[in-house]
Amino acid sequence: MDSFIIEGGRRLKGVVNISGSKNSSLPLMAACLMAEGRTTLQGVPRLTDIDSMSHLLRDLGCKVERHEPAPSLLNAGPALDGDLEITVESEAESHARYEIVKTMRASICVLGPLLAKRGKAIVALPGGCAIGDRPIDLHLQGLRKLGAEFRTENGNIIGTVPRRLKGCRMYLGGAQGPTVLGTINVMTAAALAEGETLIVGAACEPEVVDCAELLNKMGARIRGHGSPEIRVEGVDRLTGCVHRIIPDRIEAGTYMMAAAITNGELELRNCNLDHLVAVTDMLEEVGVRIVRENGVVRCWSERRLNPAEMTTQPYPGFPTDLQAQLMALLCLADGMSMVTERVFPDRFLHVGELNRMGARIRKEGATAIVHGVRELQGATVMASDLRASAALVLAGLAARGTTRLDRIYHIDRGYEKIEEKLAAVGAAIKRVSDAPAAAETAAVRAA
Ligand code: EPZ
Repeated sequence: MDSFIIEGGRRLKGVVNISGSKNSSLPLMAACLMAEGRTTLQGVPRLTDIDSMSHLLRDLGCKVERHEPAPSLLNAGPALDGDLEITVESEAESHARYEIVKTMRASICVLGPLLAKRGKAIVALPGGCAIGDRPIDLHLQGLRKLGAEFRTENGNIIGTVPRRLKGCRMYLGGAQGPTVLGTINVMTAAALAEGETLIVGAACEPEVVDCAELLNKMGARIRGHGSPEIRVEGVDRLTGCVHRIIPDRIEAGTYMMAAAITNGELELRNCNLDHLVAVTDMLEEVGVRIVRENGVVRCWSERRLNPAEMTTQPYPGFPTDLQAQLMALLCLADGMSMVTERVFPDRFLHVGELNRMGARIRKEGATAIVHGVRELQGATVMASDLRASAALVLAGLAARGTTRLDRIYHIDRGYEKIEEKLAAVGAAIKRVSDAPAAAETAAVRAA
């Protein structure tokens, strides 16, 4: 298992290219199961979750090919990201196996496409997750409304479509608000259903919009995406197309906070600020300056960080996927902050690890009370999930001394080349395998 060794206290300065969105790429790759012919997705990041989804699609009869730009052109700009070409070659297999699903919950995105296109789907139930309960009841509820039938057998959800899916009106909100992947699953399936579907209480996230735009390029008729009411007029067939994935708003927000926590200055390329309004408003309140100039986003922080109160919410609210990173930043603010998690109320595994680095955070239910401290100290800490790991990297960049972050396979799922991007702007961060070699730690310190 790899670890990061981070020597804190370096100011970051330079340019970071933001990758294509992981959370867009995964469901859009699954939507390719619906199309005849070849679909090219441009700007798909190189991540282990993308490898897992590619593996799953191959299992389901697709040819998946990645076309990389010349190595010398890597990092030269977003247009040079890798392209993924996906072609359905056989529709014989409809089983998403547990071996893949257990490593990546976004595998559930194949459920809607398989039911709509192949009339059946067997998808292993994903089980527990470090960020809390991840039920799929709303996915099933919406697909049932369209005419699918489900039963659970030996840990698998077995879905069948006795007749073609049929459009209808449905409310898809749950106790914690709308569901992103649930909306995508139902909207995608409805694209090939008979007649019109109205989804009320739909998720408004940019990833839902990106998926609707891909499907429309394939020939679907979807309107209202980006609002809580999505209308889908079913069509008989979809065909392959070329589509560019939106920039990763969570990666962009993470690098904004990396600039702020190191008192540095970063220029972000391929960053869409329109997807980050709640985040930039919050960061400005904390004392982070963010300006868009000539198509690039420049961010830096004032010397003193202000405390803040933040509650995560569905889009356009502050995203749960940036909660842990903001908390790392608020650990160094001048005063007391409150962070409340409304989307995944148990998503606080980073609290204990940040406290090991000298933070003063107390959790009360779904709220964390963060007392700002003057400095964080390096320590050995453990990554528990993707975004918690990002928060610990941020803390390590700011801390006095050396931080060792174990189990970084979590971060490889969602941040493309994070150590290369950070090192290029001045961070002392190094990936090491197995046991911590004192020599490697010393080498990073000396770098
Ligand atoms: C997506 O997960 C993202 N994953 C998550 O990012 C993100 O945290 C989440 O949306 C919220 O923004 C991908 O896009 C691959 P939800 P998703 O269904 O769609 C409840 C990351 O770090 N719910 O919108 O699975 C659920 O428990 C990941 O990149 C039900 O009750 O999340 C939660 O409280 C982690 N029943 C709320 O809805 C359901 O059937 C929102 O979850 C589905 C969800």
